[in-house]
Amino acid sequence: MSEFVKEQEAIEQETVMRRTFIRLGIGAMATGYAAAIGYPIYAYLSTPAKRAAEAGSITEVRLEGAAKLPAGSAMVFKFGHKPALLIHHRDGRWVAMDAVCTHLGCTVQYETDNNRVFCACHGGVYDAVTGENISGPPPKPLSVYRVEVKDANVVVAKS
Ligand code: FES
Repeated sequence: MSEFVKEQEAIEQETVMRRTFIRLGIGAMATGYAAAIGYPIYAYLSTPAKRAAEAGSITEVRLEGAAKLPAGSAMVFKFGHKPALLIHHRDGRWVAMDAVCTHLGCTVQYETDNNRVFCACHGGVYDAVTGENISGPPPKPLSVYRVEVKDANVVVAKS
């Protein structure tokens, strides 16, 4: 084999190696960019569904310092992904219930003066102790939860 042919083969082999290296480099960079862009999008889109699933499985909520809620008043808190109502009645009873109206899903509120739970959307009224639907369009009562006062905290749990 002549010296010229050997030199040509060496050049050709070096060119092939360089091309292979460049292709691998470009492939690695493309994979890196896809991961860098794709992962945050995946995380953003999957988080609400994941959070909703986690929130739906919550069966107990600890409300720090809620035992200081004055008698005759109420507070709204999140039970999982839904709002709920904690009422400290004037007679000292504690009642917690779902705060989502069973009519069309508005958030209800406690009315201290009338001692009732009221939905301002269409005038639905619920009993503030039992959660029974008393008047207006709500077709079902509000779900009532178990309440336990522990020191300064209140623990609300699904029965
Ligand atoms: S949504 Fe509450 S009364 Fe209609």
